[in-house]
Amino acid sequence: MTAAARWVGKEVVRKDAYEKARGLTKYASDMFPENLLWVATHRSKYPHARIKRIDVSKALKMPGVVAVFTHRDVPNNRYGVFVKDRPVLCDDRVRYIGDPIALVAAETKEDAESAVEEIEVDYEPLPVVTDPIEAMKDSSYPIHDGGNVSRRTRITFGDVSKGFSQSKAVVENEYRTSTQIHAFLETEAGISYIDEKGRITVVAGGQSPYRDQHEIVSTLNLPPEKVRVIIPQVGGAFGGKDDISVQIHLALVTWKTGRPARLVWDREESFLSGTKRHPSIVKMKTGASADGRLMANDVEIIYDTGAYVALGHAVLDVAIENCNGPYKIPNIDIKAWLVYTNNMVASAFRGFGAPQVIFAMEQQVDQLAKELGMDPVEFRLLNALRRGDVMVFGNRLETSVGIAKCLEAAKNTPLWSRQADFKAVKTYPWIKRGVGVAAAVKGYTIGALPDRGTISVELLLDGGIAVKGSFTEIGQGVVQSVSQIAAELFSVDIDKVEIVFADTDKTPDTSVTSASRQLFLAGNALKEAAKNMIKHVAQFIEKTYNIKVDNLRFENGYVVGRDFKISFSELANAMARSGVEREVSGTYEVPRVQPIPGSLEIPHLFYMFGVSLALVEVNTLTGAVSVPKLVSIADVGKVINPQTLTGQLEGAAAQGIGYALLEDPKIENGILKTTNLSTYLIPSIKDIPEIEVIPVEDAEESGPFGAKGIGEIGIISVAPAIANAIYDAVGVRPKSTPMTPEKIYWLLKNKC
Ligand code: MOS
Repeated sequence: MTAAARWVGKEVVRKDAYEKARGLTKYASDMFPENLLWVATHRSKYPHARIKRIDVSKALKMPGVVAVFTHRDVPNNRYGVFVKDRPVLCDDRVRYIGDPIALVAAETKEDAESAVEEIEVDYEPLPVVTDPIEAMKDSSYPIHDGGNVSRRTRITFGDVSKGFSQSKAVVENEYRTSTQIHAFLETEAGISYIDEKGRITVVAGGQSPYRDQHEIVSTLNLPPEKVRVIIPQVGGAFGGKDDISVQIHLALVTWKTGRPARLVWDREESFLSGTKRHPSIVKMKTGASADGRLMANDVEIIYDTGAYVALGHAVLDVAIENCNGPYKIPNIDIKAWLVYTNNMVASAFRGFGAPQVIFAMEQQVDQLAKELGMDPVEFRLLNALRRGDVMVFGNRLETSVGIAKCLEAAKNTPLWSRQADFKAVKTYPWIKRGVGVAAAVKGYTIGALPDRGTISVELLLDGGIAVKGSFTEIGQGVVQSVSQIAAELFSVDIDKVEIVFADTDKTPDTSVTSASRQLFLAGNALKEAAKNMIKHVAQFIEKTYNIKVDNLRFENGYVVGRDFKISFSELANAMARSGVEREVSGTYEVPRVQPIPGSLEIPHLFYMFGVSLALVEVNTLTGAVSVPKLVSIADVGKVINPQTLTGQLEGAAAQGIGYALLEDPKIENGILKTTNLSTYLIPSIKDIPEIEVIPVEDAEESGPFGAKGIGEIGIISVAPAIANAIYDAVGVRPKSTPMTPEKIYWLLKNKC
């Protein structure tokens, strides 16, 4: 099919590129409805406290203030996808700095911001718990009823002690990873208004219009048909817009006042109150036999979810699922805990629990290879998962497994095969160069819950098609990829494809744009829609023209059968005249894998794989590490748009470099000290090396044109590849992120 492809796999310029490059695209934060109310949020001043009294009377008397809202205005004041533990507005207690307590709606931004300061809250401070290990103890102050361990899981198979006794090399280490802030260009932002049909309409950055709608109607106790959610172009999400931010607050203001509203978090609010990547403590004892086979992995995983669970239960299960890396290990004992603290709320972030455990595992693997005197890539290849192998949750891999191909590709890159040449390059005597490798696996699609998506296609009177789905354009390029798949399936020019996305009023539910799932789901649903359209059109033609059709297909803007040909526009007009429906939908549901007892996460059926290679330079005087070259190899199935793939992998590599080296949140007693991009440093162009992107196209036969997901795989192996490269350069291993100059400096100092 792809051999003759016109659109799939081609370098088609993104339709939204031109407008975005010129700054014309309207994001939610660019929207200013007429007569709007500006909303500001009063947030907790304590990381943990009982609320004794909330007094809004002074704020209400401030100039321009129209209304002030507290928990008393919220009918069902708890929400959350897995656990309803999070208040829309805090009532009896605050659990982290930044927890929202009240909203002010005023005529101007300044009015709202001044009045929010006048809200009086009496607190009774409670013990602050910020260390997850302390939080787990029975003696620790409970942040929620039921204690601070929100989820605990243990997965075992085989016998680890037997595995270790069969091992020649055993390494045991503790790794720690820090929180990571998404730092998207556009902070959490939205507007709301009553639409022409009288519905409360929220237009806000997000990753799932239907789930946002559900959270709004269930907390405000409204019928779903009264609330509409639209997600316009979003200025970055990376998982950070998977959870509710401004949506319920906006709906509340418009519901109670009848007026449009606007709520845009500033950078500091985004840093404090947006969700984060889970900080982790991962202990691993890993063994390998004399001939280089991984024999056992004994693992303890502690993820700090902060004040609320958000998507943490699923994140923890993804951590368990991926903690062995892309390797077959016969004996495992994995214990995992998701723990409440008074830190910022952790939830989804690109990789969704995998980067932390892979940071640990890929360093374990490197140490084992070294102890056994084996080449690190050969060691990984020997242990690499193959089709038919069993994964952590006991499920058998029955879909595409491209890790061996990724490792072969890594072996063949000059950076690996001629690494001595790279390392021999002389700069200054105090600069040492090293090369490191790391591999990764991650399931795509949801896994834990039923996972289905619907797309509809409408034949337009001008001969084009409109493709409708609730996927969201968070910068990743799904609108473009869906356009290319639609143009291919319906055999029309790409300019004839109109995409309508992410509007609960206009688009069917394609479910969440996360878990690297949306291209796969939307593409497969489109395939169903195309089949259904053929059936629908065949019926119409047979009835209208009184002829028998068979082998009906789409061909260059025509519907073609034996002895029959009609253009899309003629057909659409004929259907319109007859009053026949021109919109047809298709649904794809991910086949489910049987869970093993004790795991919330139904194991994934589909996995993507990747390998990163990093060249580092370590300044032995200052401890500073730079990355002059990075190779990102990813098995993403068939590539739909090569530019989009490159964009995803380069972006992920940059974010991975930030996680590894730069992003250093300073948190003291639950209080974030680095509340802006001037102190929380993300990579700038000068920190980003030449990134070589190598797609490995191991087609997934059940994917659209063989495609898998791309979104997350690129980031996962970056930090451990850099860690391994640092060891290669200077013989020290930081075992924690970020690998700052200070950390490396002291390791080097203590080494000699
Ligand atoms: Mo993602 S981290 O599943 O939005």
